[in-house]
Order: sequence, then structure tokens, then C-alpha cells
Amino acid sequence: MSANSLKNRRLVLAGLLAVPVGLALTDAPARAAGPGTAPPTASEAGQSGGNAALNCLMTRRSVRSFTDAPVSGELVRRVLAAGMQAPSAGNERPWQFVVVTDKARLANLAQVHAYVHFAAKAPLGIVVCADLSKARLKGYWPLDMSNCTMNILLAAHALGLGAVWTGIYPEEERISKVAEICATPEGIVPFALVVLGHPAQSPSPQDRFEAARVHDNKW
Ligand SMILES: Cc1cc2nc3c(=O)[nH]c(=O)nc-3n(C[C@H](O)[C@H](O)[C@H](O)COP(=O)(O)O)c2cc1C
Repeated sequence: MSANSLKNRRLVLAGLLAVPVGLALTDAPARAAGPGTAPPTASEAGQSGGNAALNCLMTRRSVRSFTDAPVSGELVRRVLAAGMQAPSAGNERPWQFVVVTDKARLANLAQVHAYVHFAAKAPLGIVVCADLSKARLKGYWPLDMSNCTMNILLAAHALGLGAVWTGIYPEEERISKVAEICATPEGIVPFALVVLGHPAQSPSPQDRFEAARVHDNKW
């Protein structure tokens, strides 16, 4: 494990940020182990994992520099599973994924626009695509796709990987370039390219809470 990822883990474990949200999450009461003990409800499981989940989302930053180490198939599967777990309007789940590990194809993706050049040196890219045949509720699929992409970023961070969302949708030119590189069929819209790998940098968490953005009952 690199010094950086070790540092990251320590920070997360130590609770690093005095999480600046007004939520007082309490751990679910411990259950006595023993025969007949019911498993925790989804609500309890959510609460007991609450601090870890909050630490994950409060410490996630975009990572654009990676070691040469490949990302295991199991890690890719877990990251994709998190993406597929995202909420979507009408539970349509209108996503498909192109997992890119081929160096030549990553180099092509790195040229799609000026802000994705680092993909050429990354071990992995996930092209998060919308499948319009599954998106029947008009206007909602970009929201669904954003949720999916965000889940992928958070899962990558939780698993000790680094990741960054690079923008494709709604830029027409980027969409058609990525569609060509990845040979996506008609009706499949490349939405985002998540570039990821084992992190070679560790950007510091930022506290972005702004009380002035919060309006009490009315503006
Ligand atoms: C829709 C979207 C498009 C983005 N496109 C790019 C991109 O093309 N290249 C890049 O390096 N970062 C991109 N980012 C990452 C943002 O620059 C980054 O999230 C923002 O600066 C906040 O930093 P943080 O992710 O470290 O918290 C994008 C983020 C979003 C949500």
C-alpha cells in the first residue's frame, strides 16, 4: 500500500473532518448475537454505516494521477455494482458501461478534449453510457446517469482507488468522438468518462459548507 493511500485511510479512520453537517448520526444499538437474532433492518444497517459513508463523501476528491498498478477485476465489479445501485426515475436504470483498459483506446479517449489528457496514463476508464431504449420517462435520464456516475466515484474512493469524472454529455462533439472510439451502437449515448486507478496523488479534503446558501423556510 502506498504512503498516500495509507495516509488517506488513516484520515478516514480518524474521522478527519469534524463532518460539518447538522446531522447527529448515532450508531444503531448493538444487537445481542445469538441464535434467532434478526439481521439488522436496512434502516439500521444504513445508520451504523453512516459515519463511514459520510467520511467517504466528505473526503472524496478528484484524482488525475495514477500508479501503473492495474485495477483488479473484483474492484471494477464492485465499483460498477455501486453505479448500478443508484436511484433512477421509475427505477429505469438506463445505464450501460464500456470498461476500457486497452492502452491505445485510452490514448484516443485522452484526446477527446483538453481536460482528459491524463486518461492516457491511467490504467482504466469507465465510459458511463445512457441506453435510451431503457429511458422512457422524458427528460430524466441525465439525472439518473449523474447519480450512477457519482456512485462510481464514491465507491472508487471507498475502495482506496482514485477517480475523476470527465465530461462528455451534453457536448455533442465529445459524445460522437467517444461513441466512435468505443463503437457504441445507435441509441447508446456516452455520458461521462470516469478515469480511475490506484492513486498517485492525494488531494486534501475541502470543507465546502456555506451557511449563506441555506434558506430557512423561504428565501
Ligand atoms: C459534469 C462534470 C464534468 C467534469 N469534467 C471534468 C473534466 O473534463 N476533466 C477534469 O479533469 N475534471 C472534470 N470534472 C471534475 C471537476 O473539475 C471536480 O469535480 C471539481 O473541480 C471539484 O473537485 P473535486 O472533485 O476534487 O471535489 C468534472 C466534474 C463534473 C461533475
